[in-house]
Amino acid sequence: MATTRDFKAQVFEPLSGREPLSALQEEILALKRERNAVILAHNYQVEPIQRIADFLGDSLGLSYQAAEAKADVILFCGVHFMAETAKILSPQKTVILPDMEAGCSLADSCPAEKLRAYKEKNPNLYVVAYINCSAAVKALSDVICTSGNAHKIVTKVPEDREILFVPDQNLGSWVMKQSGRQMRLWPGSCYVHVLFSAQTLARLKKEFPGAPVVAHPECTAPVRDMADLVCSTEKMISFCRETSADTIIVATETGMIHRLQSEVPGKRFVAGPTATCACNDCRFMKLNTLEKVRDALKNLSPRIELPADTIEKAAPPIRRMLEWSR
Ligand code: 13P
Ligand code: SF4
Repeated sequence: MATTRDFKAQVFEPLSGREPLSALQEEILALKRERNAVILAHNYQVEPIQRIADFLGDSLGLSYQAAEAKADVILFCGVHFMAETAKILSPQKTVILPDMEAGCSLADSCPAEKLRAYKEKNPNLYVVAYINCSAAVKALSDVICTSGNAHKIVTKVPEDREILFVPDQNLGSWVMKQSGRQMRLWPGSCYVHVLFSAQTLARLKKEFPGAPVVAHPECTAPVRDMADLVCSTEKMISFCRETSADTIIVATETGMIHRLQSEVPGKRFVAGPTATCACNDCRFMKLNTLEKVRDALKNLSPRIELPADTIEKAAPPIRRMLEWSR
């Protein structure tokens, strides 16, 4: 069996400068102008994609950007449920995703048919759905939330309604603890975040004394309990900027560290470890590459298409979130 001594901590030192953009990156930017496109990218994208994004952020920031986009085309560098959300918020726009296989284990853990059947048996539940779910699940929900606003959204649900929180049991249990509000939790989880290990994190804390830990709420309770701050990827930036520490341990997908390196200069970041590995990538997020981004802009494909009635039913719970979250 692997032990925690099997790997060295993955440490990201401050950047000393940046390479100029490559020919491929310049080609993408030219195509983007030609297509009148906007590039929205999630914090977990590979660094070369992060560098050419018009907006880089968490699911909440990206949703606001998608709702307000002026361009004809939204190129979404993230995973499928994020691009679907953009299409629901801007149905007249062409929304493209570099790789249609970029899914999400968490979204997959709550199929719409199962949720529909559960609601039929329990008709009075108020469904709060984490944005990491399909458009069909959003269409069955009362309000959507992200990791950045889950606490706020849950506290706005009328007191006399019992809440079913889908699909992430870890985010759900964290919100229950923060808010004191009891909820039924759907038994879903993110395959990446459940791998972070409290045992190896404890070793890392000894190796980097005084380094605070930031963790995503999709992590399990033992990891969250060791964190100085549990928050969305966007909030990690202000935390890392404001802390007096010069080294921070980051328990979320490794792509986040590229954003931190570029926006919080002069600090050192240590990737949060799993039980057997020094870092932790989401295989879905990493399916997007610069070549696929270029081809998607050239061909305006793969394109997100959704049935009109799904858009009609999924838009109100997302818009409710955007309103409650302001
Ligand atoms: P954020 O909204 O915090 O960026 O989280 C998105 C996600 O997919 C986490 O796994
Ligand atoms: Fe889904 Fe987890 Fe990947 Fe986020 S990190 S997209 S929740 S599988």
